[in-house]
Amino acid sequence: MGQRCGKQHDQPIPKGREESKKAKQSSLHLFFFLSLFSTLCFFFAVRFLSTSSSSLSFFGDKEIAFYNNYTSHSWHRHSPCSFLSNNSSICCDRTSYHSDICFMSGDVRTHSHASSVVLYPPSNVTINRNSSAEEKIRPYPRKWEGIIMDRISELRLRAAAPQDAPHPCDVRHDVPAIFFSAGGYTGNVFHAFNDAILPLYITSHRLRRRVVLVVLNYHHWWFIKYREILAGISDYPPIDFSNNTRTHCFPGAVAGLRFHGTLAIDPAKLSDETMSMQTFQHMLEEAYNEPKETKPPRRPKLVVVSRGATRVVENEGEVVQLARAVGFDVEVLRPTDRMPMARVYASLSRCDAMMGVHGAALTHFLFMRPGATFIQVIPLGVKNVADTCYRDPAVRAGLRYAEYEVLPRESSLSRKYGADDVVVRDPERVQGKKAWDVTKQVYLEGQNVTLDIRRLRKTLARVFETVVADRRRLLNL
Ligand SMILES: *[C@@H]1O[C@H](CO)[C@@H](O)[C@H](O)[C@H]1NC(C)=O
Ligand SMILES: *[C@@H]1O[C@H](CO)[C@@H](O)[C@H](O)[C@H]1NC(C)=O
Ligand SMILES: *[C@@H]1O[C@H](CO)[C@@H](O)[C@H](O)[C@H]1NC(C)=O
Ligand SMILES: *[C@@H]1O[C@H](CO)[C@@H](O)[C@H](O)[C@H]1NC(C)=O
Ligand SMILES: *[C@@H]1O[C@H](CO)[C@@H](O)[C@H](O)[C@H]1NC(C)=O
Ligand SMILES: *[C@@H]1O[C@H](CO)[C@@H](O)[C@H](O)[C@H]1NC(C)=O
Ligand SMILES: *[C@@H]1O[C@H](CO)[C@@H](O)[C@H](O)[C@H]1NC(C)=O
Repeated sequence: MGQRCGKQHDQPIPKGREESKKAKQSSLHLFFFLSLFSTLCFFFAVRFLSTSSSSLSFFGDKEIAFYNNYTSHSWHRHSPCSFLSNNSSICCDRTSYHSDICFMSGDVRTHSHASSVVLYPPSNVTINRNSSAEEKIRPYPRKWEGIIMDRISELRLRAAAPQDAPHPCDVRHDVPAIFFSAGGYTGNVFHAFNDAILPLYITSHRLRRRVVLVVLNYHHWWFIKYREILAGISDYPPIDFSNNTRTHCFPGAVAGLRFHGTLAIDPAKLSDETMSMQTFQHMLEEAYNEPKETKPPRRPKLVVVSRGATRVVENEGEVVQLARAVGFDVEVLRPTDRMPMARVYASLSRCDAMMGVHGAALTHFLFMRPGATFIQVIPLGVKNVADTCYRDPAVRAGLRYAEYEVLPRESSLSRKYGADDVVVRDPERVQGKKAWDVTKQVYLEGQNVTLDIRRLRKTLARVFETVVADRRRLLNL
């Protein structure tokens, strides 16, 4: 079923406005970004010099073979498109509840003004009429949620008809393309990973970075924010589909992304074991390229992920003091839009434990090393979302998991409604049928917590013992 995680924090990315809101941040990073990519761009400029070929079917056997290898081996179980034939064809797999995905094999060219991707047959092949049928796809993995899918641009995929005018290439790429949307909710970090980065990793992994990302609903700041990770997925600069009217030609294309579950890569969906959360974590490690620590750190490190407006820990100072008293080296981290992901990665990839109140920032557990402990603080009335959004994915990713469920007396809802109010005593009853709306307004947006230091001490002490025991075991290996 579909997940509601993270969405409560962010409205869908509006067209344009978000750009200006983030413009300052973007310009901060722009110089670095440009200097990073100018080297790449120079390289590609050389490749693109001989680009305006108008002959059809100019892709070499090697390129086609590479792409066929991707589509024709049934690496994804139960896909009707597992055996896409060599000759020009379009195949869409619409069997998933979360996302559609289409494959095009052959001479693929963009017509961005018509929101189209067109497949041209090899010059000596006459295409059969039926293959000129059009497929439509919104390449964002929340098919079940119409309200957001309406905001995702639609892509039209079709085979060229004999009467089509020739459509010469302006830019010829010798690797395939993946078309996906970076719109929707991806302004929120949970959704950035859940709806874009992980599905992109799953869909592209076999292409070993030999893939061009062609992006619908492109937002420049997003590509700056996640640039290191995206460079671990594709060796090429991304293309803003709707703002790039040149004709880009590819030896094949994928439109849409595979989705395996909430913040998940599920090897059971694959016919072999080429990828998993561990390979994803390894990719992140290379992407951020943190220097290895030379000295073993003195004390176990706990990162407290802090929130500023909703679900605030009102006695955070005391909590930090407690954690120090228990024996941890404590870092308080408040991830903001402006904070470079590399900074967040540096903190979390090295910590032994991370603690935070349920919320999108906990998505950064993806940066922790397997075996580290993730402590989720769960306010009243959000146990279900806490479990599905973070507990289950974290456990699947190989983390140790601990939780601290707040009691009514630790919740600001007791002050607001009184300890005997049904809102406090029986959240499930209040949530009733309109579960999501109430959860969002009352329990997610209307609640702060004051943690009971005596009670929390037990949780932290237990985690501390585990961390120390793990370290000892590692040292004795
Ligand atoms: C096809 O895939 C297999 C397995 O992933 C790989 O060993 C082989 O080199 C690939 N061939 C091409 C032409 O990319
Ligand atoms: C694709 O073409 C190659 C030769 O180019 C052939 O060996 C192979 O069987 C074809 N595969 C399919 C699925 O048609
Ligand atoms: C394309 O593939 C179909 C079946 O996969 C085959 O019947 C047809 O002959 C092929 N066409 C060409 C031109 O290879
Ligand atoms: C089309 O031309 C290519 C190369 O010129 C050739 O290898 C291929 O067999 C031809 N296909 C058909 C269906 O004639
Ligand atoms: C084309 O499609 C129609 C119906 O969609 C079908 O009846 C017909 O057999 C198809 N023709 C070919 C050549 O596949
Ligand atoms: C389109 O791209 C140009 C540069 O390539 C940029 O200056 C412009 O802001 C972009 N427009 C939009 C709407 O993104
Ligand atoms: C929670 O704390 C924040 C920061 O102190 C405050 O702005 C907000 O109004 C508080 N919310 C509630 C429901 O108490």
